[in-house]
Amino acid sequence: MSLKFPPQRDAADRPALVTGASSGIGRASAEALAALGHPVVVGARRADRLDDLVGRIREAGGLATARPVDVTRAESVAEFVAAAGEAYGPPEVLVSSAGTLKMARVWEMEPDDFASQIDIHLLAVQRLLHAVVPGMVDRRRGDVVLIGSDVAYTARPRSGAYVAAKAGLETMAHQARKELEGTGIRLGVVRPGPVMTEMGTEFDPETAESVINDWVKHGFGRHPRMCKPADLARGVAAMVSMPRGAQITELEIQPEAPIEEDYS
Ligand SMILES: NC(=O)c1ccc[n+]([C@@H]2O[C@H](COP(=O)([O-])OP(=O)(O)OC[C@H]3O[C@@H](n4cnc5c(N)ncnc54)[C@H](OP(=O)(O)O)[C@@H]3O)[C@@H](O)[C@H]2O)c1
Repeated sequence: MSLKFPPQRDAADRPALVTGASSGIGRASAEALAALGHPVVVGARRADRLDDLVGRIREAGGLATARPVDVTRAESVAEFVAAAGEAYGPPEVLVSSAGTLKMARVWEMEPDDFASQIDIHLLAVQRLLHAVVPGMVDRRRGDVVLIGSDVAYTARPRSGAYVAAKAGLETMAHQARKELEGTGIRLGVVRPGPVMTEMGTEFDPETAESVINDWVKHGFGRHPRMCKPADLARGVAAMVSMPRGAQITELEIQPEAPIEEDYS
């Protein structure tokens, strides 16, 4: 019996959509995919940031177009996906990296804030899958990369809604991967540990201090190193570039602890 897989196509023939591309991991992933030769459609709410990114990618010899999107709104997602298709043809790669972070204990968080975290980290991802994956299934090829978080498995105090949403994302990814078996669509989760991005930088000093104190109390922050967005982008690029016939389903990327000179 001969086994059939989607053809190995050049990156130039595999348009990519990246959400959360105005900052951090999404931005670095868009640059990494463009450097591999993928035409990239970058989305987020801040259009000026997207234009800046497109300029950088084009200057480096890549192909990129900006399309503002709010992933919490179904019609905005539908417009984004349609516009992306018009720019470079049907998407073959989807990277979902949009996100925000609200901090509070589970029972102290305003229910609307709790709901908005579930919305952006879980419901919005399903919204994207709903808009993009059916076409991929029809074409029998595609790569979907969802940016998860290690908090899905190691809950951190004062980020309960985020943790619940990221745990839900992992479960949804397991589920979708089973359902996608045999379609030619590979779906994987890149699961970052701490990364130096804009996420969390908007907290007032009091909130930041109580969060950090609580994390230290629970054994987080054992060393000062944080990943760079580009570290995560390497993971995204690896997942998307895997030769057909194999797939990276989950990839956790953590900061490496620096060498302790007095280690014994
Ligand atoms: N940083 C970490 O330590 C860390 C650790 C684990 C997982 N993660 C995950 O990594 C992903 C990227 O986060 P990051 O660290 O790169 O943070 P970031 O630098 O703050 O980037 C977040 C991105 O999401 C976009 N975004 C926010 N709300 C959006 C919306 N409604 N519609 C469309 N785009 C929206 C933002 O752009 P606009 O504001 O322009 O819309 C921005 O481009 C998130 O899923 C996050 O949960 C981060």
